[in-house]
Amino acid sequence: MASSFGTLFSVTTFGESHCKSVGVVIDCCPPGLALSEEDIQPQLDRRRPGQSALSTDRQEADRVLILSGTENGRTLGTPIALRVNNLDQRPGDYSAMSHIPRPSHADFTYQMKYGIRAASGGGRSSARESIGTVAAGAVADKILRRKYGIDIVAWVESVGDIVAGAVDVATISRQQVDRTPIRCPDPEAAARMEQRTAQLKEIGDSVGGVVGCVIRGLPAGLGEPTFGKLEAKLAQAMLAIPATKGFEVGSGFAGTRLQGSQHNDPFTAKGDRLGTTTNNSGGIQGGISNGEPVTLRIAFKPPATIALPQQTVDFDGNPTELAAKGRHDPCVVPRAVPIVESMAALVIIDMVMQQQARRAISFT
Ligand SMILES: Cc1cc2nc3c(=O)[nH]c(=O)nc-3n(C[C@H](O)[C@H](O)[C@H](O)COP(=O)(O)O)c2cc1C
Repeated sequence: MASSFGTLFSVTTFGESHCKSVGVVIDCCPPGLALSEEDIQPQLDRRRPGQSALSTDRQEADRVLILSGTENGRTLGTPIALRVNNLDQRPGDYSAMSHIPRPSHADFTYQMKYGIRAASGGGRSSARESIGTVAAGAVADKILRRKYGIDIVAWVESVGDIVAGAVDVATISRQQVDRTPIRCPDPEAAARMEQRTAQLKEIGDSVGGVVGCVIRGLPAGLGEPTFGKLEAKLAQAMLAIPATKGFEVGSGFAGTRLQGSQHNDPFTAKGDRLGTTTNNSGGIQGGISNGEPVTLRIAFKPPATIALPQQTVDFDGNPTELAAKGRHDPCVVPRAVPIVESMAALVIIDMVMQQQARRAISFT
């Protein structure tokens, strides 16, 4: 079930980079939800290529169409199929590379696994697959906001060695994040990130970065202990995004440099609930949400396809030089922001539904 995700709110994505369409089928979306393309399109617009000079020049409108699962603008509880057509393809860009596996891309491993691959555009390994998760995530996001007051915001924290100032996770909004094309809420750092990305695009090189994310308004009690831990599901979801190389929750790796006395989050009364005075746990303890904001960081590598010449070998082992053609992102993090938010929404809606199923029949 490699293309499916989720236990109760389950999604199956389909499509390759240069096939006719990409999309998703959502199963078990609650019935009666007001849903139209306008609910989904804004997040796809934030993800789409060609949205700024900092992304790939591939131009795709990425207009979503709801094929099934709604009537008169309301969900029926039946499978919702969402489709986006691929329009701007240049398979010719890839013909020279069809015998040369791109270093650090997925050409070699897909070929080894299947004995065949969609050589044009990266096939299923392409970030176009994330259209399905972003479209489904927008539906989950609407339910979480409207019904549960849960909101999710991601932003760019660093590009290469340029690191933004600390973000106030209590107040950061998507509007603030979108004030700069690089999607970094620190304007001074954003300007330097944009300059660095533009310089690297110009010379045909690429750069990585870190995306931060906060999930606010979660009640305590979400997450299934042991193999269904909330952070384990979030890690799986985030590391399923192409080009991810690392995942942190709360204090993450930096927490290893603290002592227990510094790292522990003391409890305190917050109105009618228990909260914590600090949040090194990142809102999760024992795999279960504790009611504090869930804070995540996701590391993205520099995209592999670069125009600068690289010494490598072809599939037959013959030494060759590869200067990749095609239109590629010099840095994926600005476009990864809505993908991270969507993956988080898919995990949380599934956890909410699982917890409601558990509590519906409970003697406590
Ligand atoms: C939004 C987004 C855009 C991407 N654009 C490109 C790109 O233009 N060129 C490229 O080589 N990789 C790009 N990637 C990354 C590749 O899809 C990914 O590195 C490749 O499939 C290999 O998988 P892996 O890095 O997860 O091992 C992008 C990733 C994301 C999230």
